[in-house]
Amino acid sequence: MAQKTLLKGRVLSFTGSPFEGEPTEAVIISGAVLVEDDRIAAVGDAENLRANNPEANVVDHGQNVIMAGFVDAHVHYPQTAMIASWGKRLIDWLNTYTFPEEMKFGDPAYAGEIANRYLDLTAAHGTTTMCSFCTIHPESVDAFFTAAQKRNQRVVAGKTCMDRNAPEGLRDTAQTGYDQSQALLENWHGVDRLSYAITPRFSPTSTPEQLEAMGALWADYPHCLMQTHLSEQTDEIAWVRELFPEARDYLDTYEKFGLLGSNGLYGHVIHLEARERDRLREVDAALIHCPTSNTFIGSGLFDMAGLMRDGHRVGLATDTGGGSSFSMLRTMAAAYEIGQLRGAPLHAAQLLWLSTVGSARTLRMDDCIGNVAPGMEADLIVLDLASTPAIAQREACAENLWEAIFPTIMMGDDRAIAEVWIAGQRVSN
Ligand code: GUN
Ligand code: ZN
Repeated sequence: MAQKTLLKGRVLSFTGSPFEGEPTEAVIISGAVLVEDDRIAAVGDAENLRANNPEANVVDHGQNVIMAGFVDAHVHYPQTAMIASWGKRLIDWLNTYTFPEEMKFGDPAYAGEIANRYLDLTAAHGTTTMCSFCTIHPESVDAFFTAAQKRNQRVVAGKTCMDRNAPEGLRDTAQTGYDQSQALLENWHGVDRLSYAITPRFSPTSTPEQLEAMGALWADYPHCLMQTHLSEQTDEIAWVRELFPEARDYLDTYEKFGLLGSNGLYGHVIHLEARERDRLREVDAALIHCPTSNTFIGSGLFDMAGLMRDGHRVGLATDTGGGSSFSMLRTMAAAYEIGQLRGAPLHAAQLLWLSTVGSARTLRMDDCIGNVAPGMEADLIVLDLASTPAIAQREACAENLWEAIFPTIMMGDDRAIAEVWIAGQRVSN
């Protein structure tokens, strides 16, 4: 017998993109969602669904918003313990804080402890899927997939390959990078809800030989995602120019080694040249905006309005722990603020879309996660729009749903996440 639960509340579904036309017209609000085993069976009128499914267990969430779990399209789970490290810009931040922490992940016990801590923290913040960099160590990938598999979570991850400009103990080679990535991919990709992403960290930490090997691996497994970083800080871009003097631009260091494609995810992409923007659009690559990271590390202001207008596929991400929060609410707030600084404020519907459907599209998973619709996997969150006194007093005088939800986007945290469901099961926070 199927296990059925009817969740009543204000169920938020997207019917289109809020970046095309009036943002609110891309959304419908229904009275209930019917979860059957690990899937969404129906969305619609609460009384009708109740009458047609008398055996369903009913949970009434009143005025709370029921929506898809957040999808975080770019994270580094191994950076959980060193989040919010003070005062450095990208390259110094990597050398001072990040690499010493990542060194610890050769120890499977430590990797397992942090993977579980990270998944506990993100579930509490309403994130049900993420795409994570691991470390150079295969153990770090095994630990993350093992932890996610136990929770029946849909996640993407890959071994972060580096064979230069990283400390001893945190480098592989072109060959071992290929071999270890391939072995992990063969072990994990497509198992339960797990997917492997081929993961060269970024051009400065890979030799041309390693980039070529990563490109060859992707050519062998083109259905896999490939994730990396691109044009995050101006000093980083200058360094890439020194390391690859013959490249036309930063993107070219990936392009010439077969690392530009429609299943590629490029994190940050702030300081793009016209050729880079055009090529990324031509191949339909995914661009990942990491706003709290970009302000925290001082990287720059992502051009959301321009890139969306040009038809890029854009997702939203925390970039933990360069990002300063595990919360996609806080991340949406930072995206809003960066939009304001660029003269283009994002609507609440656009922010919620980016953190669900938008990110799922960048992972090529929008057919199964990121929205509340029949047939989708039942990864759901319940948002309390009055989770603190400060938010509640603002929400109390809201004149419509969008005014009611925006204070939670701007001021909310894990207290706003009333409930989380992963694959049809309620997760206890
Ligand atoms: N570029 C290369 N590695 C990293 C990383 O770990 N975090 C951020 N923000 N940028 C990077
Ligand atoms: Zn990153």
